[in-house]
Amino acid sequence: MKSSAAKRQTEYLQTEREQFLGDVLAGLQADRKTLNPKYFYDATGSQLFEQITALPEYYITRTETSMMRQVVKRLGEYCDGVQAIVEFGSGSGERSDILLSALPGITSYVPIDVSEELLASTANGVNASYPHIKVQPLIADFTESMQLPSATPERRLGYFPGSTIGNFLPAEAIGFLQNARRLLGTHAKMLIGVDLTKAVKKLECAYDDAAGVTGRFNKNVLTRINEELDADFVLKNFAHQAFFDHDRSRIEMHLVSLADQRVSIDGMHKVEFRAGETIHTENSHKYTVEGFRQLASKAGWHSTTDWVDDERLFSVHLLETN
Ligand code: TRP
Repeated sequence: MKSSAAKRQTEYLQTEREQFLGDVLAGLQADRKTLNPKYFYDATGSQLFEQITALPEYYITRTETSMMRQVVKRLGEYCDGVQAIVEFGSGSGERSDILLSALPGITSYVPIDVSEELLASTANGVNASYPHIKVQPLIADFTESMQLPSATPERRLGYFPGSTIGNFLPAEAIGFLQNARRLLGTHAKMLIGVDLTKAVKKLECAYDDAAGVTGRFNKNVLTRINEELDADFVLKNFAHQAFFDHDRSRIEMHLVSLADQRVSIDGMHKVEFRAGETIHTENSHKYTVEGFRQLASKAGWHSTTDWVDDERLFSVHLLETN
């Protein structure tokens, strides 16, 4: 007989699968087919994403990291008295080090992520390097409502790097910033990395690299559906596509069907594709410095200062509550 813990685990996986199946069917049965980008990140997807961040075409991570090394030197002036750092989507936990090492007044670090495993390793890493900082991980999806651990000190700096804000629609980005403002309370500040509009070629190459890593990352979601939802997507019948949409100022990622085809999911569901029809998998919005300041102000934040690199590729904004 199964132990009750094993049974709970099985039930949990069962609900996860149902949720995944429901989302996939809803997305693929719509007139314009979509898949939720959160399903990119299984173990393989997360590894491929790590590879993306090191690609020669993908300037974002490299540019932001080198900017942050400069930004933190000035941050102390603006963040006098800040005691806690709250990081939205801490992931593999490497990005906090630059901040923590530069702000000696920090006594508390709250990494937020959906992965309990990644949070545990982040917490271990920070505990080892900064024994005086109390780490209070929060397992949560930061697009939903959250509550900070009760003992979080009151002067808080939010940290949201990687231009992840660009993966929201502008209205969602405003909603996120409003939630963050509520979560961080009065006197809050927020440090955000935001990718800038630039020459289309540079943007499109960043999301369609010569080595094909971004394509593998995009297609991995189909592999995951095959494996977890008993589907029969034929991977070579789909192609990776990334293009800049001027009107919406965003990179769109799609998977293009290369033939008329029918895919079966979970045995009984059939989805038809016409040749050339696409599944829209991700958006990455690009802002001007002024455009992002305006967006932030709609969510009750104003810009304390911002930084742009010499090539004007990327921006880092320090916001404070109004
Ligand atoms: N937020 C980053 C960006 O938009 C990272 C990212 C999210 C990404 N999803 C992606 C990069 C898909 C490449 C492909 O660039």
